Amino acid sequence: MPYETILVERRGKVGVITLNRPKALNALSSVLMDELARGLDELEADDAIGCLVLTGSEKAFAAGADIKEMQDKSYMDVYKADFITARWEHITRIRKPVVAAVAGYALGGGCELAMMCDFIIAADTAKFGQPEITIGTIPGSGGTQRLTRFVGKSKAMDMCLTGRMMDAQEAERAGLVSRVVPAAELMDEVIKVAERIADMSRPMVMMAKESVNRAYETTLSEGVRFERRLFHSTFATEDQKEGMAAFVEKRQPAFKHS
Ligand code: CAA
Repeated sequence: MPYETILVERRGKVGVITLNRPKALNALSSVLMDELARGLDELEADDAIGCLVLTGSEKAFAAGADIKEMQDKSYMDVYKADFITARWEHITRIRKPVVAAVAGYALGGGCELAMMCDFIIAADTAKFGQPEITIGTIPGSGGTQRLTRFVGKSKAMDMCLTGRMMDAQEAERAGLVSRVVPAAELMDEVIKVAERIADMSRPMVMMAKESVNRAYETTLSEGVRFERRLFHSTFATEDQKEGMAAFVEKRQPAFKHS
């Protein structure tokens, strides 16, 4: 089935999903979120793809959940459908890395979606915010939780209580984004980063992702124990043998992803 609200393309080993509702600043409607889940699954299942990129337009990564779709919903509508989490958390179950390339607005659900990716590279035009308070609600897809873990309580409270936006420089200082690049170079830079990741051993990339994510779910000692088990398991792979042999022999490794 063709997509109506996203674009899915393959650039070598990198799969790129572009949110594509320009007239609504990529507001995250249920159709869009269903298509996003389908697009992510398509790239996850494609053995030729080693890293995913999620992006929007120059003006907006995404301006949040679709307010027009939400405004008349009742408590029972949202409760029974487990709105919004059920549909949105799909991206957090993707095992290949997902890099968010953010230009323009990443607001409300847009900021939450970017934070559900593995890391964020921002254009110098990016603006992050949780403005739900200004429309009579609160973040509904992890904004109060993930933002607090990224930037700490004080800044997260400031953002969630005032609804103000954070520009790219502030977001980098606060640890919300990993790098800021000029807007015109955003996609070239992100594709380069994604290609580098896609050239690594795929099982190692998946294990590293799983292990970093575990840090958000458990205690330090349990996390370190989990990491050590995964680390030990890497010694059962061909790629660990190849990677270390290549270093000793002063050549590039040829990973078999196994
Ligand atoms: N939902 C639905 N439509 C939206 C939208 C959204 N979140 N954001 C923008 N749009 C639509 C506008 O209604 C407008 O459509 P029309 O042309 O049909 O009127 C179009 O996109 C362009 O938007 P603006 O005219 O407002 O553009 P602007 O440049 O003047 O302002 C903006 C840009 C500051 C991002 C402004 O659009 C805005 O404040 N958007 C809403 C941001 C927001 O509150 N997001 C949180 C949503 S709630 C949420 O996300 C819940 C959750 O936690 C999951």
